[in-house]
Amino acid sequence: MKVAIVGLGYVGVPVAASVAATGVDVVGIDIDPARVRAVNAGRNPLRGKEPGIHPLLQEGVSKGRLVASTDPAEIGDADVVVVCVETPIDSTTHDPQYRALKAALGSVGPHLKRGALVSIESTLAPGTMEKLVRPTLERASQKRAGRDFSLVHCPERITAGKLLYNLTNLDRVLGAPDARSAAKAKAFYGRFVKGGLHVTDWTTAEVAKTVENAYWDVQIAFANEVALISEELGVDAYRVRELVNTCPYRSMLVPGAGVGGHCIPKDPWLLISSATGAKPELIPLARGINDYMPKRMARLVEEALLAAGRKMKGAKVAVLGFAFREGTEDARNTPSRPFIQELRRRGADVAIHDPYARTERGYVISRDLDEVLRGADGLAIVTAHDAYRRLDLKKARRLMRHRAFVDGRNVFEGPEVVRRGFVYRGIGKGEF
Ligand SMILES: NC(=O)c1ccc[n+]([C@@H]2O[C@H](COP(=O)([O-])OP(=O)(O)OC[C@H]3O[C@@H](n4cnc5c(N)ncnc54)[C@H](O)[C@@H]3O)[C@@H](O)[C@H]2O)c1
Repeated sequence: MKVAIVGLGYVGVPVAASVAATGVDVVGIDIDPARVRAVNAGRNPLRGKEPGIHPLLQEGVSKGRLVASTDPAEIGDADVVVVCVETPIDSTTHDPQYRALKAALGSVGPHLKRGALVSIESTLAPGTMEKLVRPTLERASQKRAGRDFSLVHCPERITAGKLLYNLTNLDRVLGAPDARSAAKAKAFYGRFVKGGLHVTDWTTAEVAKTVENAYWDVQIAFANEVALISEELGVDAYRVRELVNTCPYRSMLVPGAGVGGHCIPKDPWLLISSATGAKPELIPLARGINDYMPKRMARLVEEALLAAGRKMKGAKVAVLGFAFREGTEDARNTPSRPFIQELRRRGADVAIHDPYARTERGYVISRDLDEVLRGADGLAIVTAHDAYRRLDLKKARRLMRHRAFVDGRNVFEGPEVVRRGFVYRGIGKGEF
């Protein structure tokens, strides 16, 4: 058996390594030569701590079971082709962008073997399998889906920091148009997925995947709205949440400085892009609330600075955390970016610290917390990295010029920070 994985990103790499570990030959295809080189050298091209991936990748490469290439002709005689290229949205219109998907399908088509199984793992707006994937692949391969090859949609449920664990252990939804495709796909995924496989049709699978993430986004937006109300009423939204969740069937999420990551800010738009007639209101509204949180953070910084005797213009603000998730260096769609942009727009001089995230254009990231705090007028916690939970308030107070403290992740209790001589503001917190 030979398997081709098209797209060696956060999804493709763990899938390629997991399939190779089942003893079959795997070829990974990517247009990025650096990723291909890394995989062929047995190196994990992904950033962040991803338990288990590196040894699995190394084992596959050293045993000659896993090779990578930029040449789609290597798909050649593959029995299974898994497509996991990116499916982003336009940042202004929020429309799905299928450039990578179309190009990938176009390059798979000419090499598709009769009888092969093609599984699309990329997240898709509902209707895309029928309207885009099937016709593009049929045109490029000159073959008919369902007759000459099987075509299924098996969206991923991985998440940064737990790629391998989620891939192996979580249940999956499998969209298949007929029993033969479903059986082939079940046999393939059964090799490396321990979770259950729930078979449905293409469109239901597309809807289920995008709803999973839209659901989460809406729940977070609810928590964020409660946080904004709590700030005004002078109560602690985190305490409110604890109390709410003592009521049966309530499971309120935590508010915070904003929502980031690859999927949550994007997938709600994919979902509603196909349902214009239904005029969805709640889902875009939730997106708007979550996108507002970094701006709210900037307002809190301004308030705290003023209360500490400093104007925002020209103030040095230490931003603690650039990654969107604690303990990782994943900064995709991080709320830190719009927060920093808003601070700069208001005239602040921003210094950024993160123990893991890397410097990028416009955002120089320091690993030296003392240096970032030295001479700062205010600090703002955006990511709940462990390093900030251990922050020495006495030392921070000594290093800083003014003492404005803004907590976007409920890392500190307000009264404790105030006792240490700071002005404290926080998402979901009243004044102390
Ligand atoms: N990252 C996640 O946590 C996650 C979780 C669930 C679902 N998904 C979905 O899975 C899909 C892939 O996400 P990702 O995070 O792995 O993306 P990614 O950007 O990390 O990786 C995509 C890879 O595809 C490659 N590529 C692009 N065009 C190509 C082409 N024509 N031929 C071959 N390779 C090509 C890119 O170079 C890149 O290496 C997306 O639809 C995403 O929404 C991602």
